[in-house]
Amino acid sequence: MQSQIIIFLPLLFITLQILLRISKSLISPLRSIPGPFWSRFSSLWYFNRLRHGQFEHENIQLHKQYGSIVRLAPNHYSISDASSIKTVYGTGSKFAKSAWYDGWKHPAQWTVFADRDIKRHAGTRKRFTSLYSMSSLVTYEPFVDHCADLFAYRLDEFAANGQTLNLGHWFQCYAFDVIGNITFGERFGFLDQGYDIDGAITALQKILIYSTLVGVYPEWHPRLFGILSRIKSSGAGGRAYISKFVQDKIRVHEKTARAGTTEPKTQNFLEKLMLARDKDPEKVTDYHLFIMGQSNVVAGSDTTAISLSSIIWHLVKYPDALRKLRGEIDEFTAAGRCGTTPTFKETQEMPYFQAVMKEALRLHAATGLPMWRTVPDGGAEIHGRFFPAGTVVGVNTWVAHYDERVFPDAERFRPERWLEAEGSPERLKEMNQMYMPFGLGSRTCLGKHISILEMSKVIPRLVQEFDFVPLRKTWKTENFWFVKPLDFEVRVQRRKSPAV
Ligand code: HEM
Repeated sequence: MQSQIIIFLPLLFITLQILLRISKSLISPLRSIPGPFWSRFSSLWYFNRLRHGQFEHENIQLHKQYGSIVRLAPNHYSISDASSIKTVYGTGSKFAKSAWYDGWKHPAQWTVFADRDIKRHAGTRKRFTSLYSMSSLVTYEPFVDHCADLFAYRLDEFAANGQTLNLGHWFQCYAFDVIGNITFGERFGFLDQGYDIDGAITALQKILIYSTLVGVYPEWHPRLFGILSRIKSSGAGGRAYISKFVQDKIRVHEKTARAGTTEPKTQNFLEKLMLARDKDPEKVTDYHLFIMGQSNVVAGSDTTAISLSSIIWHLVKYPDALRKLRGEIDEFTAAGRCGTTPTFKETQEMPYFQAVMKEALRLHAATGLPMWRTVPDGGAEIHGRFFPAGTVVGVNTWVAHYDERVFPDAERFRPERWLEAEGSPERLKEMNQMYMPFGLGSRTCLGKHISILEMSKVIPRLVQEFDFVPLRKTWKTENFWFVKPLDFEVRVQRRKSPAV
């Protein structure tokens, strides 16, 4: 009898679950929205597709097959439509980040990126926006210069030895060292060592995989996190590692600051934060120091490395564009409008270079999953359809960027499309509305200007000083929120003598 109950109870539970899901899907007011069959009943379909790490392409295909709104899981809808982007992400929108973002933080803490509390998030941003502003960039430029010099030096070594290198990996070394230097006034040392020091890059990758997947079942996160954070090789362990790393940096800074041993000429991010905290400890707390430092490391290294890879990859694939860019930099140099290592300000004035960056980030945006948001109280109309409060909707940057209605011949790298559109303000507006490599609205990337600084400082000198020959015609990528190239192997040759 007892053994019959042991079999019967789970069966009953499973049957009830199935019936519940079927009835929910039948009575849902959004039941007519198309999508893959199994996505109607369970999130397992979405989880399984995410697991393969290629979802940006699948998401584009799904919209080609089903139209502007596609169901990806019960109550989760992927959207591709310019006017809806404004509704969901526009300034003043009340669409909070969905529970998927819970997987991106410690269950008992909040962080700026994952914060679902609109009010607290707005307060945090207001407090720290100035640290990321255009005017702050001047103080960060020397930190970037130092890393760009070292990066060029390392490439020189590869060129001299005739060795091939994984450029994607080296861009990650560069981006990590820059963000370390800007944030803590200290490089991590990746550019010196060239390998994954202390497993930080691996730890970050594990966070990406864990958070991407656990976010589909956020209710599991608190339970899994406690167990997994004790296992070093897990995603939760990766987060614990990065957190400790940031805390250690803060501790060292506190000591040196107290000892009065540093008299910085150019303040790094942490020093600026400490000054703000000492001035007003209620407004800027120790916890703020920790989360802002951690956010920079987690959000700011892979993303920049991917974007740098995309720029060089597309330039070598499209030699005409590379020629034009080199021509522009030569012209600027000849006219005395820039030196051998252009400043950030000088690069801002190069129209073709700006268009190259924009187009490379359109074709290969660093993030490749829907940026999920929850429909607020009262519901909302999206693409002519009413979505009740609590529905989860999102736009995948890749879907927006490959929309042929806005970007004809979308798969082609054509920086000119941005320059041509300047003659037609309406057209440009339409393109900009669908252009979202840095997200949009109140949750737009805080580090956008810093990352543009990082790219602007290194790309012009790389294209002028080096030739890159990829070893493969296509590259493999893996999408766990960040769409990372895995095998961007190149041979590098020097074109011009190093800048003096
Ligand atoms: C090319 C490089 C970068 C790209 C493509 C990028 C992309 C993005 C995107 C798409 C979002 C919004 C995500 C969402 O709505 O779910 C975001 C948010 C964020 N990014 Fe970046 N990012 C880059 C570099 C950086 C850097 C260098 C930093 C730090 C120094 C940074 C810090 C942040 C932070 C803190 C947020 C959260 C903002 C908020 O929720 O208010 N990012 N980024």
